[in-house]
Amino acid sequence: MGLITKFSEHEDELIRRFHAHPFFRSFEDVSDVALRAYLTQKWFLSRDFVSWYDRAILGMKDPEAREVLRKIIFDETPTDAPSHREDLLADLSYIGVPKNKVLSSKPTRATQRAKRNLDRLVNYRKDPDNDLRVMAALRMAGEVLVAEEYRHVVPELERRFGLTTDKSVFYAPHFYHDRKDACVDAFGVGQQPGTHTNSFVAVLDRMMPDEDKLAVAIESSGRAYDARMSFFDQFTTGYRVRRASATAAIAASLALVAYLGDRREAPSYAEFLASLKPAERTFYLDADRRMLEQFERTGNPIYLEKAGTFEAVKEAWGEGP
Ligand SMILES: [Fe+2]
Repeated sequence: MGLITKFSEHEDELIRRFHAHPFFRSFEDVSDVALRAYLTQKWFLSRDFVSWYDRAILGMKDPEAREVLRKIIFDETPTDAPSHREDLLADLSYIGVPKNKVLSSKPTRATQRAKRNLDRLVNYRKDPDNDLRVMAALRMAGEVLVAEEYRHVVPELERRFGLTTDKSVFYAPHFYHDRKDACVDAFGVGQQPGTHTNSFVAVLDRMMPDEDKLAVAIESSGRAYDARMSFFDQFTTGYRVRRASATAAIAASLALVAYLGDRREAPSYAEFLASLKPAERTFYLDADRRMLEQFERTGNPIYLEKAGTFEAVKEAWGEGP
């Protein structure tokens, strides 16, 4: 198996984790107000997309890689049409967030933190892997995950606000253009080097001649994933507490009480999970996933020890809903 294929499989795993994030798992339940608030916050990341890529170019030694990024910047800012930032404002206005509201809004602290995390991905580092690291990170954080995010946004905006794919000038084209599984579609954009995501392939393939370089790329796309997710976590915390504590968490903790009351000896966590209804089980599995993500983020084995035990729920939720 070629190394680029291995790298791509690693990316696919991150995509799977992305869609498993609680925010996207219950995306259609988010209120209109919360949906607009999230998209308004997202504006602060999209607004600075070009300067983010531009900074990556400045530190990039590889001419072909620079060309890939330059071409994307060019697409974002055509000379004969509105820029993608203007297009984004147009879509936001269509769904009820007028331009003056977007432009006068303020980024939350979490959005500012996410932006700093994303910015850090393109920091120049004086080592031979700078180019590979930055290219792997931008493909994940700037292209692949953006499309995966809009995979949820596009149908919701059509369902709620009638922003159909032919009316949308930002979200729909970005989804169709950047997704990894792009195939020939209504926009005439196919599985071809012309898509932003695919335009990284030749360069990344050349920059990964051995397993050591593959490891650098995998590590970097993982960091890019974490940086992206740090933006969504701000909507999930409140959202999870609000929704899950009202439904799944209460049901799940009642189930725990009933189960414990039934047994004299300490129950095994696996037996307990098996006894739950799927919606209740999701609550516990969520806590486990959080432990694994915390471990990946911090490297602290304590989180690994807690995963798969009742301790994971305590760690994620405190003593109880
Ligand atoms: Fe793109």
